[in-house]
Formats: sequence, structure tokens, C-alpha cells
Amino acid sequence: MHDIIRQLEAKREQARLGGGQKRINAQHGKGKLTARERIELLLDEGSFEEWDMFVEHRCTDFGMANESVPGDGVVTGYGMINGRLVFVFSQDFTVFGGSLSEAHAEKICKVMDQAMKVGAPVIGLNDSGGARIQEGVASLGGYAEIFQRNVSASGVIPQISLIMGPSAGGAVYSPALTDFIFMVKDSSYMFVTGPEVVKTVTHEEVTAEELGGAMTHSTKSGVCDRAFENDVEAILMLRRFFNYLPLSNKEKPPVRKGADSAERLDYSLDTLVPDNPNKPYDMHELIMKTVDDGDFFELQPDYAKNIIIGFARIEGQTVGIVANQPLVLAGCLDIKSSIKAARFVRFCDAFNIPVVTFVDVPGFMPGTAQEYGGIIKHGAKLLYAYAECTVPKITVITRKAYGGAYDVMASKHLRGDVNFAWPSAEIAVMGPKGAVEIIFREEKSDPAKLAEREAEYKAKFANPFVAGRRGYIDDVIMPHETRKRVARSLAMLKDKELENPWRKHGNIPL
Ligand code: HXC
Repeated sequence: MHDIIRQLEAKREQARLGGGQKRINAQHGKGKLTARERIELLLDEGSFEEWDMFVEHRCTDFGMANESVPGDGVVTGYGMINGRLVFVFSQDFTVFGGSLSEAHAEKICKVMDQAMKVGAPVIGLNDSGGARIQEGVASLGGYAEIFQRNVSASGVIPQISLIMGPSAGGAVYSPALTDFIFMVKDSSYMFVTGPEVVKTVTHEEVTAEELGGAMTHSTKSGVCDRAFENDVEAILMLRRFFNYLPLSNKEKPPVRKGADSAERLDYSLDTLVPDNPNKPYDMHELIMKTVDDGDFFELQPDYAKNIIIGFARIEGQTVGIVANQPLVLAGCLDIKSSIKAARFVRFCDAFNIPVVTFVDVPGFMPGTAQEYGGIIKHGAKLLYAYAECTVPKITVITRKAYGGAYDVMASKHLRGDVNFAWPSAEIAVMGPKGAVEIIFREEKSDPAKLAEREAEYKAKFANPFVAGRRGYIDDVIMPHETRKRVARSLAMLKDKELENPWRKHGNIPL
């Protein structure tokens, strides 16, 4: 008995050391934490229950029979974040570069399966050289087992990937299938093929950082939802982010009431929208002044900045915020912003999170780049997402709501529950100038006449009353009472029930 206990301790010790002190030092030397240090920081103190510490790979090729480390390069189990259950896996780069063997994959699959059974999120801390080269196809099979589980779990439990080292080749597709990807600046990268292959095939010379670093994916590709300075910041922000989410699609998000009164008025909002309709303003200001304590967790803040997405709370309840940003491209909807917002709306809908939409949109972005890029199909994604969405939807039109973009942005016609407009709202087919240039084309040579027509059009349509007369908006509200009115609407919608017709699944224009 004593012998077994001694052996057990020795194995545990070996597992905890991973690839050995030298490699741990190298990991620290790169400014990275080890797999276990990351889990310790992520989970509530003392809450981690580790599984499969004794699992070892079964490979005997290429001298691997004598090269085994208990745990096989991934630490798995479950624990708590602020008292709420979460399953985790954390790849250990000190063991065969965190590469994925069949056994390593089985460990990940085990926690994913259990998370599905009990209804709790999975967080993956990724730091891996990809498929374990010595294992070949067994490793590829392991990846596919994980992919299948990622897809089965999609919309059932939240899945979050934090990329904290390499993630290359087909290995990128597990994070890509999860709901959110966070990255660490300068120490993580993701690409389908690395710089060497790129050079051979396309003759482009590019560094790993340029090709797939955190800045690339958070500004250019939109693959990454947030980029953080280092491991510690990334993990602490992930803990904060976790607090917004429900554990599964069967639950509502947790309510964390603060001191901010739902009845709070903010008179500074009455002057937010400039008199000149072509002058921009920062939509962040409205978001901050509407949500609890000005606390907004923005996602993809540096990508497709013409739309803003993220989580906040109103009366302690998590809400998803979607807002056009007049500061960038005048708030136009284009391909990138449509995709960015559509995926976010679908997440909210899958996980019972009400959507609050702030609208100031002059329309879809014109031009060959957009048309050739398929704005028709991509814009339809956002339309589809809002239309299928059954969670409470509250919309506030602050200024422009023109054309198809008016329809798309959670309009009444797409089952918006409560649709407000500020007095500055202009709900019309298009802006007054464009409109008169079309309908009074024959008067184009007479600028004075055209200006008169424009003023006439403006007086008729550049206001919220035409839509109000038809009930397309429920009320015209003063900007300063936005928080109060949105909060009351959310409270009213607390037990909203709405179901889409049965189907195997819809066919969103991908
Ligand atoms: C086995 C691996 C490994 C791998 C790294 N190691 N990647 N062992 N399989 N895939 C080992 C190294 O041999 C080394 O062992 C240790 O991990 C650390 O690696 P280094 O190269 O010293 O570290 P670094 O310089 O930081 O470079 C990291 C790296 C590089 C860029 C990830 O190791 C690398 O290029 N690895 C190969 C990447 C790759 O081609 N993977 C397969 C991709 S295809 P020692 O003993 O020296 O410490 C793929 C397909 C998935 O993943 C398909 C899914 C459908």
C-alpha cells in the first residue's frame, strides 16, 4: 500500500513537472505561463479537479516508447469561475510542444463530453505545435473527434478558446468552431499554413506574427475576438467575460445587480447627436451611458469598427449590444460588419441573451468591392440572424435608419419587441439628397429648385413620425431616458416566449 502511494506521488510529481524544469524555464523565458499556472489563475482558488493525470500516449514509433510523460501534454478537468462550473483543458507546450496525440485528444474529448452532459462551458487554453508528428493519422483522427464535439456542442454550451502559443494547420479549426477566440499579443499565432509554406507556394515573405499573430487576427481577419497583452491579462479578462454567460442554452445568464439605478437619466445624451446629419459622433458614449456602471465588454473592437458588438448588463442582466458606429464609414453596413454582428446575434439568441440594438445607419456600403465580395449574401446573414432571433429584442434608432439597413437592424418587421426612436431619428428609404436627385431628376439642372425639394423631403420623412404613425416604432423617447426605457422593456420581456417553426436547421446564407 505504502509503495503504491509512493508511486502515485512520484507519478503526480512527474506529471506536474511536464517536460521538465528546463522547458518550464524556456516557457517562462518567452513570457508565457505553464499549462498548470494558467489553470490556477483561471479557476477559483483550490477548485480545480484534475482528470487523467496518468494518461500516457501509446506511440512506439520513432523512439517514443521510452519517451512518455504522465498527462501527455494536456491538463484537463473542471473547476469554478466565481463559483460557477466550467470544464477546461490546457495544453502543455513543455511536453512534446503541446502536440496532440491520440491520448491527448481523448482527454480533451472526455471533458467536452462531460461538459455536454452536465451543461457547463468548455474553455480551451491552446498552446500546441499541432498534430503529434510521430503519431501520424491517429493524431488527425483525434482532431476530428474534437471537431465533431465542437460542432455538437455549438449552441448548447458556450465554448471559448484562448490561444496562448502556436495554433497551426488543421489545429486552428477547433478554436474556429468555438464561440469566441481570444489571443495573447506577441506569443500566440494561428494560421492554416506557416510562413515557410506561404513562401514556397505564393512567394510571399511574411513573419509568423504578421501572418497570424494576435494583431493580425484582431484587426485584419476578424478571427480573434480580443487580443490581450500577456497571459495574466488574458486569463483575468476571460474570468470577467465568463460572468456574462449562461452555463448552457437551458439557462439564463447570471444576474449581477450593481448600484446603478435603472431609472437613472442622463441629460448629456440629449446633445449627443449633432444638428448636422453628416457629422459623426461616438456611439460608444450612448452604450456606456445606457448600461450598468458604464461597463461594456466589447468584442472585436479593432475589426469592422463601423459596427460595435459586446456584452453589458442592464439591471444586472446580461445583454448583447449591437450598434452602428457613425464614426467609421458613417456607420454603413458592409461585408465585414454584417458578418461580425450576425455571428454575435446568433450567439445571443442561442444562449438566451437579450439583444439591444442602437441604430444609426445610412444603408449598405455601395461599390464594386462590396458587390464583388458578395455583400448581398453577407448582408443577408445579419438579416437572417435578426429575423430568426427569438430572445427579447429592443431597438433604439438615434438618427439614420435608411433603406434595407433599417429593415435589418432589428426592425419591428423582424419581430423587434420594443422599437424606440429618438426625436432626431430619420426613418426613410434613403437620405433626402439622394432621394430628390432620383425622384426629381429632371430638376437636376436647377440647384435652387432641388434644394427646395430636398427641404420638402426632409420635412416629410427625416423624422420619426412617419414610422410612428404606422406603429413601426413604439414610442419616440428623449435621449436622456434611454436607459430607463430600455430597462423597463427588458423587465417586461423577462418571460418572453417565442418559437420558430420546427425544422432540422435553417439555411443561413453562408
Ligand atoms: C511532436 C513537437 C511538435 C509536433 C513541436 N514539437 N511540435 N513534437 N509533434 N507537432 C516538439 C519539438 O520537437 C520540441 O521538442 C518541442 O516540441 C518544442 O518545439 P521547438 O521547435 O523547440 O519550439 P519552438 O522553437 O518554440 O517552435 C514551436 C513550433 C515548432 C513553431 C510549433 O515546434 C514547429 O514548427 N513544430 C511543428 C509544427 C507542425 O508542423 N505541426 C504539424 C502541423 S499539421 P524538444 O524535445 O526539443 O523540446 C497539423 C495537422 C492538424 O497540425 C490537422 C487537423 C485536421
